[in-house]
Amino acid sequence: METQEKKRIYSAMQPSGMITLGNFLGALNNWNQMQEEYDCIFCVANMHAITVRQDPAELRKRCRDLITQFIAVGLDPEKNIIYYQSHVPAHAQLGWILDCYTYMGELSRMTQFKDKSAKHADNINAGLFTYPSLMAADILLYQTDLVPVGEDQRQHLEITRDIGERFNGLYGETFRIPEAYIGKVGARVMALQDPTKKMSKSDENKNNTIAILDDPAVIMNKVKRAVTDSENEVRFAEEKPGISNLLSIYSGVTGKTIAEAEKEFAGVGYGAFKNAVGEAVVAKLEPIQKNFKDLQNNKDYLDAIIKEGAQKAERIANRTLDKVQKKIGFPLTIR
Ligand code: TYM
Repeated sequence: METQEKKRIYSAMQPSGMITLGNFLGALNNWNQMQEEYDCIFCVANMHAITVRQDPAELRKRCRDLITQFIAVGLDPEKNIIYYQSHVPAHAQLGWILDCYTYMGELSRMTQFKDKSAKHADNINAGLFTYPSLMAADILLYQTDLVPVGEDQRQHLEITRDIGERFNGLYGETFRIPEAYIGKVGARVMALQDPTKKMSKSDENKNNTIAILDDPAVIMNKVKRAVTDSENEVRFAEEKPGISNLLSIYSGVTGKTIAEAEKEFAGVGYGAFKNAVGEAVVAKLEPIQKNFKDLQNNKDYLDAIIKEGAQKAERIANRTLDKVQKKIGFPLTIR
């Protein structure tokens, strides 16, 4: 197995909508904080995105915007590998191989598959079903130690480990078996208008989500309209999903603990609390939005990052793919 000094982190995001505060607090913000300590690879998962219908021009734009947001948030393209999934054919190649080591029964148990097939009943395609084995390929190709994700991806991490262990059991040590890294705060940001379901970038009701590129006035307005409860106590509790969600958001963007936030807002009404949450979100996002605008004007710089990212990712991915192909009896690829 390849030796590395630092532990490797791998994670990805689908270009299936504007990045939300959920994606930011559950994933991107953690990636940003981990980049010094780990050897990191971050991917725009556009192959996963076509498991639901996408408008081609829109998809292309979203991919570009997503990679730009990765950098705008602070991911350093000099230190990390940042790339498009579809630029590295090894994902599709290992994805197919792993399909042959993944059982229908396992895939049928995936809650994301159940949710998405209910939502897109007219398009329950085979890719939607085998999504987890492609995701396993993403992670296993890079001999990953840790995968920083939100709570909703835990099940996909478990199946990745099962598939990797199954393959290792059959053919000897081939893949490093990854662990999920799920942060304590912000691992499950909820929809603002319905705090019993998760905030999702593909939600049609835009009042449910805050996009990290939303205008400050829009953000303030969405937070003000967030559903709460009929009490007037700012307290984190299961029976208060709206207030708890806003407390988590506040804690996520300020770095304060929930207990500190509860103390800060003791005796404060919901209106003033929401105002403070909105302002804290805006303050966190404003510099990111400025970076985004600056980067958008820097076409050559972005193109170079995308090209270099693909080349670097491909070198690592192909090493694992060659090893796998050899083990299962495919003739050596002539490169
Ligand atoms: P995606 O694109 O749905 O979400 C990207 C990341 O954001 C997290 N997330 C959330 N965290 C907290 N609260 C929320 N409401 C919320 N919504 C989303 C997700 O957990 C994720 O970390 N299958 C993946 C993409 C993927 C991937 C991979 C991830 C493809 N290959 C390999 C890790 C490793 C997905 O659909 O994420």
